[in-house]
Amino acid sequence: MNSESWTSRLSRERVVVAPSLLAADFANLESEIRKLEAGGAQVLHIDVMDGRLVPNISFGVPVVSAIRKVTTLKLDVHLMIVEPERYVEAFRAAGADSLSIHIEAVPDPTELLGKIRDLGAAPGLVLDCGTPISAILPYVELADILLTMSVPAGFGGQAFHAEVLDSIRTLRRLARPDALIEIDGGIDVETIGAAAVAGVNMFVSGTSVFRASNYGDQMTILKKAAFDALANNGERLDASFDTRNR
Ligand code: DX5
Ligand code: ZN
Repeated sequence: MNSESWTSRLSRERVVVAPSLLAADFANLESEIRKLEAGGAQVLHIDVMDGRLVPNISFGVPVVSAIRKVTTLKLDVHLMIVEPERYVEAFRAAGADSLSIHIEAVPDPTELLGKIRDLGAAPGLVLDCGTPISAILPYVELADILLTMSVPAGFGGQAFHAEVLDSIRTLRRLARPDALIEIDGGIDVETIGAAAVAGVNMFVSGTSVFRASNYGDQMTILKKAAFDALANNGERLDASFDTRNR
């Protein structure tokens, strides 16, 4: 039996907005997640930071575990930590559906990507803003998710770096067709279109979603901006944008 992976299924949707819980109200995470579910989210992006790979500290395994208990949404866990090999089992056991590791933390990620797959999670590889794309090119076929940072990893609310779109175009060409090409940082209604045209199909958004009064409406606005840019670019879309928010 070879059932399709969740990342492959989502890659066929062309535009998936993944809200980043880093911008959520941590004192009310469950109600924040309910609002995202009601708004049509399919994936929650979860930023784990250790204060070493990146200057900031966010949250760890117990928080992922607590989130897992209250939702069936896919949990896209972005590990901004050194020595991720020490923690992938624990994050998988906590309920992560994907585990993305930074090339800056694991210069040869071959073994760890295989281990993440063996644990039953989708393996993801991350290129931080400023790292040459050559660092990840040998490994692109091993990843179900290729995540390009469009801000220096570590903080929400930073301005989008348009120069990473070159890397996106290269990754879209070289990655497996069923891989998710993900972008993270500074995605809003102004920037999402260019990212979509460059080949992104999963868009992390923290500030833009959570500063809105209605998260679902904002996700719809972002999706529409992406689909409009794709249509203007002449991309033929099988499923046209559906205002019912799916
Ligand atoms: C930054 C994190 C992002 C962050 C994005 O290091 O990886 O996921 O939450 O936030 P915005 O959308 O505010 O740039
Ligand atoms: Zn992230």
